[in-house]
Amino acid sequence: MKALVLAGGSGTRLRPITHTSAKQLVPVANKPVLFYGLEAIAAAGVREIGIVVGDTHAEIEAAVGDGRAFGLEVTYIRQRAPLGLAHAVLVARDYLGDDDFVMYLGDNFIVGGINDVVERFTRERPAAHIMLTTVGDPRQFGVAELDATGRVVGLEEKPPVPKSDLALVGVYLFTAAIHEAVAELKPSWRGELEITDAVHWLIADGRRVESSVISGYWKDTGNVTDMLEVNRLVLESLEPRVDGLVDEASQLIGRVVVEPGAEIERSRVVGPAIIGPGARIRDSYIGPFTSIAAGCAVSGSEIEYSIVLPRSSIAGVSRIEASLIGHDVEVTPAPTTPRAHRLVLGDHSKVQISS
Ligand code: DAU
Repeated sequence: MKALVLAGGSGTRLRPITHTSAKQLVPVANKPVLFYGLEAIAAAGVREIGIVVGDTHAEIEAAVGDGRAFGLEVTYIRQRAPLGLAHAVLVARDYLGDDDFVMYLGDNFIVGGINDVVERFTRERPAAHIMLTTVGDPRQFGVAELDATGRVVGLEEKPPVPKSDLALVGVYLFTAAIHEAVAELKPSWRGELEITDAVHWLIADGRRVESSVISGYWKDTGNVTDMLEVNRLVLESLEPRVDGLVDEASQLIGRVVVEPGAEIERSRVVGPAIIGPGARIRDSYIGPFTSIAAGCAVSGSEIEYSIVLPRSSIAGVSRIEASLIGHDVEVTPAPTTPRAHRLVLGDHSKVQISS
């Protein structure tokens, strides 16, 4: 079995953090969401993996390399434009040959990995196996329609009036039958070749399509509340480790990871929290469920339940909560007079000011 990981996309969708970088590299507990997928694929015993890349290929290739670090053999497959998930299967046709494969959307996060579903698929070998989960607003997903016995009888991509609250999760298992379905597709209303339509085609053609319903699931929707929650979830299972420097005047409480090259001085860090490589924390309080990324500087400040991306600095600010701070951001206090907020905010930023 091979894996096909989709890490393409235009890179221009206007979401707060993925504005300027690949959405598959959004960090969860300081690790790109894509890496959790690669680890899940390797853990399921798959070695050969094709990664579909688009405009942001350089960034993805720099992050993943040849895949050796994950125990994988990576082949990059260039998609010239994001013409749909089924289009990605089409461009990977030669790479996939007639092998079974697991297709994994690079911006999806699945708690508990994919070992069980890969094992079940290998044993039963239906034409396709899809994964479903209950969601609050199914209109932004592919949605499954089930009959009274729980069998999938139809699938629709982002329906305005969903037939159920069961959304398609971004992990699919296919035999080579999917290539027949993909070859028959026409672009959808959004101009994409939809994998949802390809799976629907298999069902309509009488092929066997199995499904399983899972609970722990997250995808990058650009929704900050969701991101903070998935960050919290992952931090909760952190193994504490101190590879950086922590001075005697500092205190680490609970599950805290201090990466190599990080320095903590005269500060209190209450876990679960992670302090990235080379970050400097001085005279500060870092509270639970916080990820401070590589190269950040936090001084004379208090922050909790937040995510700070690489190389940002926060100085003399108390107190930051439930916040997502991007790359290379500077947060500083205003001069005392005049009492005014001075903001330089990128497009689509969101700010709440407590005064
Ligand atoms: O996340 C689950 C959902 O993913 C499913 O419920 C939907 O049925 C499925 O169509 C898909 O919907 P999205 O509209 O959210 O997919 P998105 O365009 O965000 O792309 C998913 C991943 O695939 C993302 O990592 C980018 C990559 N991609 C996307 C397209 C359209 C490609 O590599 N090439 C493409 O052409």
